[in-house]
Amino acid sequence: MRGPAFAAVLTAAGSGTRLGADVPKALVPLDGAPLVVHAASRLVDAGATVVVITAPAGHVDHVRAALDGTRGLGAPRVVVVPGGPTRQASVAAGLAGLPSAAGPIVLVHDAARALAPTALLVRVAQTVREGHDAVVPVLPVTDTVVRFVPSADGGPARSGGTVDRRGLRAVQTPQGFRRHVLERAHAAGAGVAADEATAASDDASLVAALGVDVALVDGDARALKITTAHDLAVATLLLTEGA
Ligand code: CTP
Ligand code: MG
Repeated sequence: MRGPAFAAVLTAAGSGTRLGADVPKALVPLDGAPLVVHAASRLVDAGATVVVITAPAGHVDHVRAALDGTRGLGAPRVVVVPGGPTRQASVAAGLAGLPSAAGPIVLVHDAARALAPTALLVRVAQTVREGHDAVVPVLPVTDTVVRFVPSADGGPARSGGTVDRRGLRAVQTPQGFRRHVLERAHAAGAGVAADEATAASDDASLVAALGVDVALVDGDARALKITTAHDLAVATLLLTEGA
């Protein structure tokens, strides 16, 4: 399935601390192929003309080798650059590595969401194409959600009350943007990018900080973020079921 042409920044520079594997998360195999290879193949299938991948600084060659071994994922279509200390810094590094002729639509995607279906990638790109500056896939929140009030006296934390989940959505990637809007947002947010405590956890929040409207489209449960060993087991199951 293929939609409008787009360029992609694929973040893969994290260490995967919570997964706890002996290689960075993007290189962890899922059904024999590293997560980053699954994600990059789906981007290319969906219509990516160029994919800039951010790799952990000491693993640029390993990521490049993993991609070169897969048909259609070698240079020049797929480019690997070193990431930064936070996801935001990595996306900025990926954007800086995009060729100037890459076209007006950019999708930012996480290698950790390795099984995001091609149809989801196409839906996001298509919605940007239809005239939206920023497009984010979301899912309804299914758990009851409360405000967390930390303990003041060594006892248990307290509930600060239930939040009406009907007004909430959980945000996924890929997030799609008009390239110049995303570049402006990263330039404006560059001052906080180096520090995990202040950096933005996604790109739409940087764009929204400029006052730009963010359009929401349906997400997909198969685009789950692989964070823990449990998530990797779920992803393995999804893949055997044809995801
Ligand atoms: N990422 C990145 N650069 C960083 C940190 C994260 O490119 N400095 C990427 C990750 O590779 C991942 C995505 O951002 O694809 C989402 O991050 P997360 O799921 O938190 O991955 P990790 O940071 O690798 O995992 P952990 O937080 O458990 O270490
Ligand atoms: Mg992380």
